[in-house]
Amino acid sequence: MNVLVLNGPNLGRLGKREPDKYGRATYADLVDLCERTAAELGIGAEVRQTDHEGEMVGWLHEAADEQRPVVLNAAAWTHYSVAVRDACAQLRAPLVEVHLSNVHRREEFRGHSYLSDIATGVLAGFGVFGYAMSLRWLAEQQS
Ligand code: DQA
Repeated sequence: MNVLVLNGPNLGRLGKREPDKYGRATYADLVDLCERTAAELGIGAEVRQTDHEGEMVGWLHEAADEQRPVVLNAAAWTHYSVAVRDACAQLRAPLVEVHLSNVHRREEFRGHSYLSDIATGVLAGFGVFGYAMSLRWLAEQQS
């Protein structure tokens, strides 16, 4: 199993970006955590981040064509992108929607996701550990 861990806009600035909401772990720490967790679990994980919606849609097409599971933090696109939703709808392996913050206790607009009803599962509010939990759950599915 080779999971794609995809991150949307502004997540490359983790650590510097509103640490009260998103925590102090940097994007490099997030990549490291995912790679270490995947290695422990004996699975592959490739972590990517983009601020460009078209690039994200292309990566989701790649995951669909290769039947790869996806852990996705679509960041702000979660709340408005029909293009990201439509790309996610093409996936043929599990999709885990993840958010660092608990989007349900923030502004009202963050409570709506274009992805949750097509995701296999959703994790929000556990900071970077949400990614590790997602990988752990995915690894369980193949054993
Ligand atoms: C986020 C929550 C989104 O509302 C926000 O736009 C983000 C990050 C999170 O991980 O908590 O950029 O997806």
